[in-house]
Amino acid sequence: KVTGPLVGRRFLVTAGGTKERIDPVRFISNDSSGKMGYALAAAAADQGATVTLVSTVALPTPAGVTVVSVSDAREMLAAIQTHFADLDVLIMAAAIADFRPAQVADQKIKKTVDNDEMTLALVKNPDVLQTLAQTKKQQLMVGFAAETQNLLANAQQKLTKKRLDMLIANDVARADSGFGVDTNQVTVLQPGHAPEQLPTLAKTVLAKRLIEMITEKLK
Ligand code: PMT
Repeated sequence: KVTGPLVGRRFLVTAGGTKERIDPVRFISNDSSGKMGYALAAAAADQGATVTLVSTVALPTPAGVTVVSVSDAREMLAAIQTHFADLDVLIMAAAIADFRPAQVADQKIKKTVDNDEMTLALVKNPDVLQTLAQTKKQQLMVGFAAETQNLLANAQQKLTKKRLDMLIANDVARADSGFGVDTNQVTVLQPGHAPEQLPTLAKTVLAKRLIEMITEKLK
């Protein structure tokens, strides 16, 4: 039997980098491994929450979590939209590509002998958080910000612009933080609160801390 302070609460967590198709054999993506998102999903389920994990990667499914596999940004948005109305908490740890190829070629794009350059036209992807914010009711919305410079200023801007309840800012320029590694160093921003800097922690430990903070906010 599942017990814990989050019994009866519905969470949706996103994980991994989106893959934006160029042709049948290529895509544009980023370095997200999904580790942070999976750790958060596991930590929320551990506290009793009902957790859906919308993921672009295939890590082992955490106990008690339902995984929905997607690949690109628009699929991720659609998958979240089917659950959004009933959610208590949405945590967006996924790294969503801001742009996708304007056209997806049906066949593998071939190189030509007479051309040493190739231009790929890109179009903007929908902003998932901003799209969902338009129909937000009870949902607590938590975003992540991956930054390589001006971490706090950029993160503060995202907190406001995306109308978030919490934003986890991570410095991805450091070797022991951000994409791919097992540790992360973050600063937690909340409207009306001073930024709270956490030490470098294992993603599993950080996930527990963040779920505790979110649990407090739900009270
Ligand atoms: O997966 P790991 O290897 O464990 O690495 C973890 C991580 C570094 C990917 C993760 O901790 C993280 O920072 N995820 C967010 C990365 C990111 O895309 O940040 P962003 O600053 O581009 O986006 C800000 C927020 O808006 C994010 O919550 C993102 O999910 C969301 N977003 C972004 C683009 C878009 N079109 N729609 C969105 O909703």
